[in-house]
Amino acid sequence: MRSSPARGATDPLPLRGQRILVCGKGGSGKSTLVALLAKSLAARGYGVVALDGDASNPGGLARLLLEKPAQPRPLIEFFGGREHVECPVDDPSPLTRLGETTPVPEKPIRLEAIPAEYKLAEHGITLLRVGKITRALEGCEGPMSKVTRDLRIAGDAVTLIDVEAGIEHFGRGVEKSIDTVVVVVDPTFESLDIADRIAGLCRQMGVPGLGAVVNRARPHVRDAMAARLRDAGIPLLGAIDRDDALEQAGLEGRALPLAPVAVAVGSIVGALEQAAAARGHRPAGHEEENMPMTLQEALLAALDDEYRARATYRAVLAAFGDVRPFVNVVESEERHVQALGRLCERYGVDIPADPWPSRVSAPESLEAACQGAIEAERENRALYDRLMDAAGGRADVEETFRRLLTASQENHLPAFERALERERRGGVGRGRTDGGHRHRRRHRGGGSACRDPERP
Ligand SMILES: Nc1ncnc2c1ncn2[C@@H]1O[C@H](COP(=O)(O)OP(=O)(O)O)[C@@H](O)[C@H]1O
Ligand SMILES: [Mg+2]
Repeated sequence: MRSSPARGATDPLPLRGQRILVCGKGGSGKSTLVALLAKSLAARGYGVVALDGDASNPGGLARLLLEKPAQPRPLIEFFGGREHVECPVDDPSPLTRLGETTPVPEKPIRLEAIPAEYKLAEHGITLLRVGKITRALEGCEGPMSKVTRDLRIAGDAVTLIDVEAGIEHFGRGVEKSIDTVVVVVDPTFESLDIADRIAGLCRQMGVPGLGAVVNRARPHVRDAMAARLRDAGIPLLGAIDRDDALEQAGLEGRALPLAPVAVAVGSIVGALEQAAAARGHRPAGHEEENMPMTLQEALLAALDDEYRARATYRAVLAAFGDVRPFVNVVESEERHVQALGRLCERYGVDIPADPWPSRVSAPESLEAACQGAIEAERENRALYDRLMDAAGGRADVEETFRRLLTASQENHLPAFERALERERRGGVGRGRTDGGHRHRRRHRGGGSACRDPERP
């Protein structure tokens, strides 16, 4: 738990003590936004820690943020290096300082307690970096992700975190203790697609705040992107236009000037402050204390999950024909989507378009399809526990969530488990309704249909 006291809506610096993660597609402008936000926040009187958590892009943030060519020593070494810090997927236990047993999230580190060689400080901003991949066969970025996930700085500084491109950090649980995820969206299909995925994962993980910043778009494209984000239920924090001075500084490897985009960045900070004040500073929690969801968030998370399941199972049917149990389950998911849609209407929640059909494709075999489905239905369990809390005693919502969960756990899951057994025995009794004998999918291309957050 973080040490910052609860603050009211009148707090002049409502972002104090918060951890803000900036993510998105590669090259979308994540490091640019972190550098600009850091400068804007510092100008408003915040203490700022900028944490470079991108282990694969050497030095990006230091160059954009400060006029110094130097790099601070990687924090991973402060925590004992790879010998002491394990990838959170293999070892989810929290980060501890060398020679200490109390986890860092419980006992935040004072900036002064971090030796000078690990820090670069200028104008109220302190730059830290987790580490870089420097050698061949060094291993995965996991240990660095643990530092990113668990580093807490004592006091009131805002921590801005720059992570690697894409969504892999979600697979390592980096978002566990984040107050707000900011996704940077440039005018590309991939960028919007990644934003949708990030929004879905944030809802699943109960991240308290989420918002998007449109970067480098011309005005008419910017408006279309804003509409697209609104449809996806992602709040827009603001936009930064394509700017010659930023581009020039980026090209020459100089620190980014804030002045040409100060108004735009200031209004993004304002939107972040407003959202934080409205939430009443609910600090990002530990593993075991997920933030409660609002009813709207719960309905959108449930709908997103059903949309994704429906699209995934439809892709399986398109590839393999009308095979059981997918053919039955897809009808059931369709009914779930309808039921959730009715609840959305009743409670005034705008129904977002289904973004999943263009994103999923069937895996190579029915066996893999069954495995993916089993994993997905198992994940459902945890999601629905949280949704039930958000129902807040509303009988109609509880009844629908219960029906959805029962169908998933008592019908779909065992059906997929039996189907997996059947596939492993050679597909006897697969029950195709088209009489076909396709063991392989009809169409190739695309990724797996399994709902794995690590695979975009
Ligand atoms: N709004 C903008 N206008 C002009 N150039 C920009 C803008 N945003 C980012 N850039 C430039 O684009 C390049 C990539 O941005 P960067 O922040 O490094 O992306 P990321 O961290 O997402 O990979 C940089 O050279 C940066 O200067
Ligand atoms: Mg970057």
